Amino acid sequence: MAQLPIITIPDPILRKISDPVERVDSAVVKLMDDMLETMYAAPGIGLAAIQVGVPLRVLVLDTADEGEPKSPLAMANPEIVAMGATTRVYEEGCLSIPDVRVEIERPETVTVRYLDRDGKQQELAATGLLATAVQHELDHLDGQLIIDFLSRLKRDMVIRRFKKIARDERA
Ligand code: NI
Repeated sequence: MAQLPIITIPDPILRKISDPVERVDSAVVKLMDDMLETMYAAPGIGLAAIQVGVPLRVLVLDTADEGEPKSPLAMANPEIVAMGATTRVYEEGCLSIPDVRVEIERPETVTVRYLDRDGKQQELAATGLLATAVQHELDHLDGQLIIDFLSRLKRDMVIRRFKKIARDERA
């Protein structure tokens, strides 16, 4: 397994729409393993392949509480097939936008269909933090970021700040 560098805004690759996985082969399984290692090291509770520069519909998650046993999830071609009517607001962060948190209202429960690391189709009924995290990572696969939930003014402020950081790092 290998830790991969995480891409941050304003890198335009984060806006790409990711392609479906054709087959969960050994390369995809290795990508899942590397993404999990990268996510745990960050540390974070979710990561989409595009955040490590791979435009494939693959994501990993682990929303287990600290001190609880790990409960890694890896999904290829995840799709929401049902969602509950109730919503919850959660302050979300993103490994591609360090130190920024955005309050986002999303359905409290979602059912997601995906291929697991063995290429088998699975369905998972997610609630609470896991439901939030799944929806956040699914957004990444379509090039959507948490700053898209901000007003244009606030979004532009965040982007300007990260452009400046990127410039300073090059200088
Ligand atoms: Ni994110």
